[in-house]
Amino acid sequence: MRKPPNNPYDISRLDLDDILGTINEEVRQRFGENRGEVADYIPALADVPRDRFGMALALLDGTVHEVGNARERFSIQSVSKVYTLTLALEAIGDALWKRVDREPSGDPFNSLIQLEHEKGIPRNPFMNAGAIVTADVVLSNYGDAEATLLEFMRARSGNPEVGADVELAKSERESGHRNVALANFIRSYGNLHNDVQDVLDFYFLQCSLRMDCVDLARSMQYLADGGRCGPSGQQVTSAEGATRINAMMMTAGTYDAAGDFAFHVGLPAKSGVSGAIVAVVPHVMGLCVWSPALDRKGNSLLGGYALHRFTRMTGLSVF
Ligand code: DON
Repeated sequence: MRKPPNNPYDISRLDLDDILGTINEEVRQRFGENRGEVADYIPALADVPRDRFGMALALLDGTVHEVGNARERFSIQSVSKVYTLTLALEAIGDALWKRVDREPSGDPFNSLIQLEHEKGIPRNPFMNAGAIVTADVVLSNYGDAEATLLEFMRARSGNPEVGADVELAKSERESGHRNVALANFIRSYGNLHNDVQDVLDFYFLQCSLRMDCVDLARSMQYLADGGRCGPSGQQVTSAEGATRINAMMMTAGTYDAAGDFAFHVGLPAKSGVSGAIVAVVPHVMGLCVWSPALDRKGNSLLGGYALHRFTRMTGLSVF
């Protein structure tokens, strides 16, 4: 059996560039296997080439390690749910949990099924239903929610160019029938307080934000560092807040694959249908992988593989 290192958080023992290089080679060898599909239910996502892979690590001292297409931008999709959850919790604290539960769902990200039995209270803030309620809370509690979110993402990533993809948001508004159904269904239980269209517009905008792996790895750093954001120096949330958000990512960040992710990766993580997965090594780093082809549960296939290899090569799984 492999002997565990004395201090698993001491990453000075690791050659991170060498490890990223190996993962990059392994992933690229698997492009030809032709497994996984690019999300096509949002028309603008269907055109993204599948032979892309990027990975970035942002350490607490600000050092970044990157490989592959780590500077190619994509829409962050459901990864945005981590940031709107942070904003909602900062605004209303534990009152959020009266409107959204915090249990894993075991159902797909866009499922409606539990909502009727559970009186319009979504299972967790990372399923689309829960993210729509979270978006409603952000809308109710920040004067200009859109500007607040943009400013938040620019400060977290240290990149003043982070912006929305208006065309993509429009494409999703025109094809997002299921999200429209979810929002109206939740509204029928009184669990949306703003106009349904306004909530959906904000939700589609948050999904359309364009960032790259380096931006996202940096934007995860506050969750690795007790709520303190490296790029801005701000205390974004308390250490307790960061711990709780990490727990949510571990149990629900990859939807009905959260068990599989804990098993194979062992890090708090959040995926998006553009093929991004962000993850946190608590007290050590924020990270991001991106590869557009998805498994049947909507998580990046090779991104998940890369994270698996990463925790196994570094010993950094939290387990
Ligand atoms: O609402 C949607 O369906 C997309 N904008 C986001 C879903 C998503 O990213 C699910 N993640 N794997």
